Amino acid sequence: MIHSLKPDPVTFRQEPNRIFDFMSLTPESMHMLTWLFSPRGIPKSYRHMDGFGVNTYKLINARGEGVLCKFHWKTQQGIESLTQAQASEIQAHDLGSHSKDLFEAIERGDYPRWELCVQIMGDDEHPELEWDPLDNTKIWPEDEFPLRPVGMMTLNRNVQNFFAENEQAAFGTGVLVDGIDFSDDKMLVGRTFSYSDTQRYRVGPNYLQLPVNQPVVRPATNQRDGQMTYYVDTVGQNPHTNYEPNSTGGLREADPPGPMYEPEIHGRLTRATIERTNDYRQPGERYRTMPDWEREDLVLNLTDALSQCERHIQERMVEHFTRCDPDFGRRIAEGIGVSVPPASEPAVV
Ligand code: HEM
Repeated sequence: MIHSLKPDPVTFRQEPNRIFDFMSLTPESMHMLTWLFSPRGIPKSYRHMDGFGVNTYKLINARGEGVLCKFHWKTQQGIESLTQAQASEIQAHDLGSHSKDLFEAIERGDYPRWELCVQIMGDDEHPELEWDPLDNTKIWPEDEFPLRPVGMMTLNRNVQNFFAENEQAAFGTGVLVDGIDFSDDKMLVGRTFSYSDTQRYRVGPNYLQLPVNQPVVRPATNQRDGQMTYYVDTVGQNPHTNYEPNSTGGLREADPPGPMYEPEIHGRLTRATIERTNDYRQPGERYRTMPDWEREDLVLNLTDALSQCERHIQERMVEHFTRCDPDFGRRIAEGIGVSVPPASEPAVV
């Protein structure tokens, strides 16, 4: 997907034809497109948008019981979005408007806040659901899986040096605290290897020792050396001993703090796509719950991009949007002058 969004390798321009060629062959992208091309895809500022983790994690309690979990950040400033026309107008004068807004709000003491919420689901197959709980292209509906508040984040100071505290920050899906574990979400597994691997290259092998990245509580490990080492994480143990097992007062493998979560798994390991796709219901529902002005901007933005695409790609996209919602498909078709293919059946509504 990212390759299709990147500049064309020959013209070095982002080309709608490449993007929608890919999207039209991956119907699981419909929900993301419906979201992205609507004003929700253009937040008024960083302060006026939610965040969510996309990937599914597990939460494990002290009794060794585990559940699936999705994390959400809910803005306390309210969601506000811009139309494409408003965004173009702002960008014509100010390319860094979002950074400016956030920096100035914090400087004047108007600290933005986000509530951290979790959605919880039992860690099993869930045959009753029409989609796979680990499918990153689906959301967990909030009426079935309510958001449970667990904390509040307040941004209460700006960085003192952008490079030290921002450029060198290394966030990654694999940096976890006790009680949080990985699910079998395939993309999460890929990301978890990829981020820290990149960060060892981008920042340096000891990137976790930089103040912006170091944990509040020092871990105890035998990992050491490499460029820019500042300390060794032996925390009060014999620093001469960097092997385990040992009998010379070095680090020793600790017993797990409590019962481990060890789910039983049966099945065949295959190389296959997700079975329960249901790619059209969630985008259709999103389309129908948008206020009119958002729907209008969505259609306008998609029409603008799709009118730069080849006919066969346009036709495939119209068919997909029609399956999401017949009105959605009809309006895009009218906008780009394509007839709705007669074979297309709307998705189950
Ligand atoms: C849910 C899907 C994903 C989301 C929301 C996501 C989001 C992000 C974001 C926000 C950044 C930081 C960009 C920046 O600092 O300007 C990033 C960086 C990165 N992403 Fe992803 N990503 C996703 C999937 C993936 C996948 C599947 C891979 C590879 C398997 C990947 C590999 C990376 C790497 C290597 C970086 C650079 C990390 C660093 O140098 O700090 N991402 N991603």
